[in-house]
Amino acid sequence: MSETVKATFDGKEIEFPVIVGTENEKAIDISKLRSSTGYITFDDGYKNTGACRSKITFIDGEKGILQYRGYPIEEMAEKSTFLETAYLIIFGELPTKAELSHFQELVAKHTPIHYDMRHAFESFPANANPMAILSAMFNMVSCYSPHLLDGDYTPEQLVEASARLLGKTSTIAAYTFKKANGRPFSFSNPKLDYSANFLHMMFTEPYQEYMCDPDVVRAMDLILVLHADHEQNCSTSTVRMVGSSRANLFASVASGVAALWGPLHGGANQAVIKQLLEIHESGQSIDQVMERAKDKNSGFRLMGFGHRVYKNFDPRAKILKKACDKVLASLKTRDPLLDIARALEERALEDEYFIERKLYPNVDFYSGIVMRAIGIPLDMFTVMFAMGRMPGWIANWYELRTDPNSVINRPRQVYEGATKRSYVPVDKR
Ligand code: SDX
Repeated sequence: MSETVKATFDGKEIEFPVIVGTENEKAIDISKLRSSTGYITFDDGYKNTGACRSKITFIDGEKGILQYRGYPIEEMAEKSTFLETAYLIIFGELPTKAELSHFQELVAKHTPIHYDMRHAFESFPANANPMAILSAMFNMVSCYSPHLLDGDYTPEQLVEASARLLGKTSTIAAYTFKKANGRPFSFSNPKLDYSANFLHMMFTEPYQEYMCDPDVVRAMDLILVLHADHEQNCSTSTVRMVGSSRANLFASVASGVAALWGPLHGGANQAVIKQLLEIHESGQSIDQVMERAKDKNSGFRLMGFGHRVYKNFDPRAKILKKACDKVLASLKTRDPLLDIARALEERALEDEYFIERKLYPNVDFYSGIVMRAIGIPLDMFTVMFAMGRMPGWIANWYELRTDPNSVINRPRQVYEGATKRSYVPVDKR
């Protein structure tokens, strides 16, 4: 007998079914609420609302658990690569050796962008925000893939579209950086694996051989693995919202880029470094920073802290904190910002304000330090987040589009504006 809950509306008792997920999360199915009671629910920021059923990623915010298709993030971070993780997230299972090799070849084949697209970069000013370029370019890529624009995908089309998007995101990102620095584009090298090829296109001149430092390549791949999916976060929910109108995958991920750009979401990794640099250059004490973070009127938040779901450590932050040490040690360098970050974390974890609100470091608190160490420029940090999140966006779009019960997303509202009134001609106002 499935579980139900009862609620009384204007004296009438209504029963609602309870949905129980495979990790025992419970949801009240209110699909019949409005038709049977006339009521809607109200949930600012959807903090308590499940927008879909999904099999892709599971997060337990209280316990700090993150699993991709059931595999713990700690194991994926230690043992997997970004393309293997992307395959798992998009297609649901870890690939066999042959499947992985075929997918890697496909991504390599689709990494170069159409030669005509290089002119598009010329139309952006040198100081254009890389997220603006990335978002625009995804819609441009769709113009060169007309066969992937309409209708729902066959499994074969999903493979091709995934390979195109994963491959071309790395090229667009690298060329955005080259354009901003007035450097010529370097062609993709299919002999290199995904992250090495990206770093090659980012940092080498066309005639140069990429001298890849395995620790740097591994750190880049780790950043992408850790960002690959994260259930119904703001940008992924945006991709689902746009995809629910039956918009194509390229337009949907372009909207995901726009949502990720915000400083409360993907833009936080840049905001963290800017904040740490400000603290470092101004010589503010940790006490002064903590007071500002707790002062509601300061307009200052400790960026990289807090999370809508995690009320414990973000497991990705723990992994990245260790990666900071490893990368800086292997590069025989130090970063004073890491010392400040550590001191802030230590202080916040014993501060009543942060403890009471369950504010812990999130993925963005340490990711920027790793990216700085491997030479990624600050204004490209959120682009790295988008590159990592691409598998999650693709998988969520496809899951929505292949769900026979999926409908166009169209939330309701509580209207608080003017009640009915008559038009007044302009000379009588
Ligand atoms: C990402 O959703 C995802 O999964 C996102 C992500 C992913 O992988 O896709 O994990 C990636 O976006 C991580 C989050 C990156 N953003 C930041 O680091 C920005 C700083 N963090 C905050 O703005 C905030 O914590 C959010 C946006 C992350 C979460 O906001 P919520 O859940 O809406 O919480 P809230 O703003 O209602 O805050 C609750 C309380 C408030 O105090 P009170 O009004 O209760 O007194 O906590 C305070 C807030 O003022 N608070 C902070 C704080 N974050 C929350 N106070 C100081 N510093 C902070 N960072």
